[in-house]
Amino acid sequence: MSRDFLAVTDFTDQELIQTLHFAIDLKKLTKAGECPRPFEGKSFGLIFHKPSLRTRMSFEVGINQLGGKALFITDAEIQLGVREAISDVARVLSRYLAGIVIRTYHQKHVEELAQWADIPVVNALTDLLHPCQIMGDLMTIMEYRGSVEGAAVSYLGDGNNVANSFLNAASLIPLKLTIACSESTMPNADILHRAQEAGVSEIRITHDPFDGVEGAEFVYGDVWASMGQKDKASEKAALLKNFQINDKLLKHAKSNVKVMHCLPAERGKEITDEVMDGPHSIVFDQAENRLHVQKAILMKIME
Ligand code: CP
Ligand code: NVA
Repeated sequence: MSRDFLAVTDFTDQELIQTLHFAIDLKKLTKAGECPRPFEGKSFGLIFHKPSLRTRMSFEVGINQLGGKALFITDAEIQLGVREAISDVARVLSRYLAGIVIRTYHQKHVEELAQWADIPVVNALTDLLHPCQIMGDLMTIMEYRGSVEGAAVSYLGDGNNVANSFLNAASLIPLKLTIACSESTMPNADILHRAQEAGVSEIRITHDPFDGVEGAEFVYGDVWASMGQKDKASEKAALLKNFQINDKLLKHAKSNVKVMHCLPAERGKEITDEVMDGPHSIVFDQAENRLHVQKAILMKIME
């Protein structure tokens, strides 16, 4: 049976930490021109139903660096579940490819694809989850802090796929995770409940942005309206305007706070230019680390 990475919780706590260490090693090896090439002769399908800069590029570059070939296809061609059944797509692709990376809307479509595929499937973002993002972010936290255990992370804004994946991570490894959001933009209730029930992390929900960043080592932002929800942009902006990451807000966090954002950012909305381009920002390290962590994830599940 093939191994998938559809959610952070597809790894055990130990596998998660090992993968982060391995990603840091791979980053050093790659920079030294010594990246291993275990995927020589293997092809990977990249199925993207939403736009992407980082995820597509980092998977393509990463697969190439590992010796493999990445083939990109959009839903205009596949029409998943419309032109043909997801189960048929999965079985056909399993005859050509060594693995599938998919970005789409519904988590259940990714799960169905994985259920029918004989090859590993990686979730490159759904409406519900963005596990590769959080792995890269945890790697970045590990690099800056030495370890991830006990890191005080405050996520501000929409309770979206990124927030949900942070909660999943907090159900495995001990974090001090605060989600500061409006009452109408809470993260997924089941995922929040499971993370709280796991009893691994200190998880706090607040609707006050200043309280939200109190004591934070890492303050994290994302767009207020995710892909597929841009019609709700003004409604979300009205709900979340007080959660903007700006210099005034950061005064309430630790003085050496690091500011994170998965990107793309809507500058002037959820984060100001001053903060994005300021001394606390580590957003481009996060973007870079997507490359290395995804290589580590692929190598782990292809073992
Ligand atoms: N952070 C992220 O996943 O970026 P893209 O949407 O550009 O891939
Ligand atoms: N929450 C955002 C993340 C983009 C990388 C979205 O889904 O659009």
